[in-house]
Amino acid sequence: MQDRYLGMNLKPTGVADTPVGDSHSWQLTMRPESSAVLVHPNAQSNVLSVRAKAMIFADAQSQALLDQVERFAPSEATVLIIGETGTGKELVARHLHTRSGRRGDFVAVTCGALSQTLAEAELFGHQAGSFTGATQTRAGWFESANGGTLFLDEIGDLPLALQVKLLRVIQEREVVRVGARTPIPLDVRVVAATNLDLPAAVEAGRFRADLYYRLNVVTLQVPPLAERPGDILPLASHFLRMYSERLGVQQPEVLPETQDALLYYSWPGNIRELENVVHAALLTSRNGVIRPENLRFAAMPPTTSTPVVAATAAGADPGFEAIRSALRRLLESQSPELYDKLEALIVKETFASSGDNQVRSAKLLGISRNNLRTLLKRHGLISG
Ligand SMILES: Nc1ncnc2c1ncn2[C@@H]1O[C@H](COP(=O)(O)OP(=O)(O)OP(=O)(O)O)[C@@H](O)[C@H]1O
Ligand SMILES: [Mg+2]
Repeated sequence: MQDRYLGMNLKPTGVADTPVGDSHSWQLTMRPESSAVLVHPNAQSNVLSVRAKAMIFADAQSQALLDQVERFAPSEATVLIIGETGTGKELVARHLHTRSGRRGDFVAVTCGALSQTLAEAELFGHQAGSFTGATQTRAGWFESANGGTLFLDEIGDLPLALQVKLLRVIQEREVVRVGARTPIPLDVRVVAATNLDLPAAVEAGRFRADLYYRLNVVTLQVPPLAERPGDILPLASHFLRMYSERLGVQQPEVLPETQDALLYYSWPGNIRELENVVHAALLTSRNGVIRPENLRFAAMPPTTSTPVVAATAAGADPGFEAIRSALRRLLESQSPELYDKLEALIVKETFASSGDNQVRSAKLLGISRNNLRTLLKRHGLISG
């Protein structure tokens, strides 16, 4: 199996088929004949990103995503992966390919990086002499992915003129090189990714509705990191281990208050930001310990000027701090009817923990029995 990222070949020396703790290393070699065709604007970071040694799916949300990947992998269906920047869309696409049993390559193309003038030839190939500079006949990315998976990253950036051509290739399962007449049959699984709101782009006339429906046969939503807090510490220790090994240093200890700060932060840049924060923390740590001050977050926590660490140090109840940070995440995710849900949670938990005893529940909450009865009725725990 060969794995390419635009002008580069990445040859796996092991296979990534176990999600947690698997270990596979990648060797990077240049593919000279194609590096002239496409140069990725951010090639270095992408090379790093595909060299992840393990995948962490610890949170229940991530495990559910992994289950979906396993379920959809063997099918031929086109998949649309949706998620904010840095959430792991490409990693999910690669895993989908690995688990698909398809023997061809995984070929990743960043649609936003396709040059305006050559994009069609890059995707679909061209005949010699079909345009100025086309000295040789060349296969496009679709043909390179034959028998495998074509990953169309940032699909929302694909120019409208190409969208219609892409739709035709996907529908007819064949490609006609620029300047040629004979179609070439294809067996390519298309996986597209976006961090844009594609329905809004369709609404605004920037994305073709027919292509959207064609791509969206199966949708995989990759949740933001803040919505899968169970992944934060396992990912942090994974990156810490990875960078410590790379630097040849002993893996430092992460203080509990540092862990709190990691859990409490909102992670607008998601896993990529976590990786950078952990890497930088390792570089600035002293005496084998990572302290909160080693964490350099890109964004300030949105709703507070008192970080959890300060509050904990000042003697606040850590239980409340955990609730406070969970609440912030819920506020950021704009969970609907939040107040009502929280009230229901308090009442139900209290009532259950006191063995459905009204007097004890009222006492636990520090409210009158009448008030408690009103709440119990409101949330359907006693009949009114
Ligand atoms: N579950 C995971 N376990 C371990 N590392 C991960 C996981 N998910 C993502 N990463 C790492 O996080 C970084 C970002 O992942 P990836 O490039 O797949 O995100 P993306 O959603 O494609 O981002 P963008 O929208 O910016 O292109 C990479 O270094 C990747 O290896
Ligand atoms: Mg990506």
